[in-house]
Amino acid sequence: MRSGFRVSRHASLKALNTFGIDVAAEKLVDVEDLLALEAALDAHESQDLFLLGSGSNVVFVSPPNAVMRILDNRVTCETSEDGYYRVRCAAGKPWHDFVMHTLEHHWYGLENLALIPGTVGASPVQNIGAYGVEIMDRILQVDAWDRQRRMPVSFLHDACDFSYRDSRFKHEPDRYFITHVEFKLSAQPRLVLDYAGIRDELQDAGISAPAPMDVARAVIRQRTRKLPDPAVIGNAGSFFKNPILSTAFADALAAEYPDMPVNRTGQPGSKKLSAAWLIENAGMKGYTRGHAGVSDRHALVLVNHGGASGIEIVQVARDVAEAVEAKFGVPLHPEPRLIGGEW
Ligand code: FAD
Ligand code: EPU
Repeated sequence: MRSGFRVSRHASLKALNTFGIDVAAEKLVDVEDLLALEAALDAHESQDLFLLGSGSNVVFVSPPNAVMRILDNRVTCETSEDGYYRVRCAAGKPWHDFVMHTLEHHWYGLENLALIPGTVGASPVQNIGAYGVEIMDRILQVDAWDRQRRMPVSFLHDACDFSYRDSRFKHEPDRYFITHVEFKLSAQPRLVLDYAGIRDELQDAGISAPAPMDVARAVIRQRTRKLPDPAVIGNAGSFFKNPILSTAFADALAAEYPDMPVNRTGQPGSKKLSAAWLIENAGMKGYTRGHAGVSDRHALVLVNHGGASGIEIVQVARDVAEAVEAKFGVPLHPEPRLIGGEW
């Protein structure tokens, strides 16, 4: 009889994190069927159990002892009468496959989020976002297993405390294992095309009346051009969040550096700066120390040049943050989770 989960001992995590950090876990528990999650936890719950998605937003500073993954990837859809679909997806579905699945079924709204690495289950954790859309704009509900209370729980959108690259799941790390995410997707395309470069990309492809799939393809082309591919050189995408500062501080800095990009946050009294610009203008683009460094293609991406440890990557991050703080007085904060380490 199938138990719905599988256990491996002394499992290498090198291929399971996009930095390619070469560490191993004593135990890896793969949950293939979410109906078996409770049984898997009954057998393998421990204080140091870490839930891993695709490893695209983690730095293993020291290896976790025990790792669980949710591989269940089922998708279901209910039509609601108001022209929307309620699409429910299990945590283990790879995010980009899910986006393509929705577009193929004409469930619209995720096209700008194509090609973001990771799993559906991790998508609410940092409220993934790109090209003018954040996942909080599309989430109805998040279902999870609460390890503290040992019971399933559901959070409606407003209970998730979403904000830029943030949510309640990030503030209580390891408490909730997200099992399913429910999205509100539309039968009618409502395209978001204002993010820099998207209209140009469509125009270059000769498309004047884009369909959602055209937008996804334009995003894929932009991302492929701009970001280093983790299959070629280990990285976790943006290493730092774009800093949000008081309007007064941001305006004063902008007066000193007129070509520095300054963006609105949607919240009065604050503005968002570009961490990439700050890093490049602090002279750190292409910086290398040991086996790690800053990408020479995109200043916000730290890379593993081969054989880097998590400690080396964090050391480079500290060098970068110090250089930016010394020149501009702006503190940077890492976006990926540092497992077994602190900022
Ligand atoms: P992991 O890295 O495995 O885990 C991250 C955190 O989430 C960990 O704390 C983990 O415990 C927790 N977690 C994972 N699964 C669950 C679950 N089911 N329940 C509860 N907690 C869970 N992010 C963006 O927002 N926008 C981008 O444009 C973007 N571009 C990227 C480009 C590249 C090349 C890379 C490598 C990364 C990029 N990222 C981007 C970051 C990353 O893709 C996202 O943060 C993604 O959601 C991480 O998913 P994951 O499954 O890999 O999570
Ligand atoms: N820039 C530089 N030097 C560089 C690269 C960029 O100065 O080497 C400047 C340019 O002025 C550019 C600006 O930075 O206009 C912004 O760059 P980009 O459009 O690439 O966006 P980003 O701020 O670097 C953010 C997200 C990405 C997301 C893109 C697209 C964060 C931390 N990062 O990147 O998300 O894909 O916008 O929406 O918010 C991630 O979170 O891992 C991630 C990749």
